[in-house]
Amino acid sequence: MNLDDYLALHCTPESEALAKINRNTHLKTLKPRMLSGKVQGRFLTMIVQMLKPNFILELGTFTGYSAVCMAEGFSSYNSSAHNIGAEIHTIEANEELEYIIKENFEISGFSDKIHLYIGEAKNIIPTIDKKWDLVFIDADKENYSLYFDLVLPYVNVGGFILVDNVLWDGKVLQENTGNPEKLDKKLDKKTKAIIDFNTKIMQDKNVEKMILPLRDGIFLIRKK
Ligand SMILES: C[S@@+](CC[C@H](N)C(=O)[O-])C[C@H]1O[C@@H](n2cnc3c(N)ncnc32)[C@H](O)[C@@H]1O
Repeated sequence: MNLDDYLALHCTPESEALAKINRNTHLKTLKPRMLSGKVQGRFLTMIVQMLKPNFILELGTFTGYSAVCMAEGFSSYNSSAHNIGAEIHTIEANEELEYIIKENFEISGFSDKIHLYIGEAKNIIPTIDKKWDLVFIDADKENYSLYFDLVLPYVNVGGFILVDNVLWDGKVLQENTGNPEKLDKKLDKKTKAIIDFNTKIMQDKNVEKMILPLRDGIFLIRKK
């Protein structure tokens, strides 16, 4: 058994709804590997159970798997997850995914708690008038830095921003000396954007941070 299988075996299993969404994603999309998966999914559920956030923003819905994982954490606030005020707002650029996402939110039973926006995250973020307790950034890597700048002013003090794929299959280690001037100019755009983003967060004194080496690396960032 490999480590990933061992981790999956030892975490809370997918709910029936999540298993269906996972299967739907494999049947209906070209890149099913983009969904968070069992272990990272349950990490997100547990983060919600620990923080009990009221307002959650997600950038990069894909088929809704991670949003549903977070919504499943609502049951820890109250025996009826539907009687709490918590909401998830999730943004997806690919309009072709809209019907699958909506179908999946119906399957989850949380369509009343999850608000979907179809469009470019950078255009939609400024239109949602909320203060966030938790933000999950999982959209296009080239814009990570922009997304961080756009959301940080609207994150409550003590709120968290989680950013996925910050180890980028280990590619960030190639040249990462912590000194942006020494980066290899031939690095592909996504790798360079993630390395630049990680450096920026490392240097930002307004946030506490650590990279959790789970799956493809998740930056845990807390606004001071
Ligand atoms: C890695 S997937 C998200 C996976 C999802 N969070 C999950 O764990 O199941 C990234 C998603 O971001 C979307 N995306 C890419 N660029 C975007 C943009 N500019 N604005 C909003 N969404 C974007 C993609 O279409 C894709 O569905």
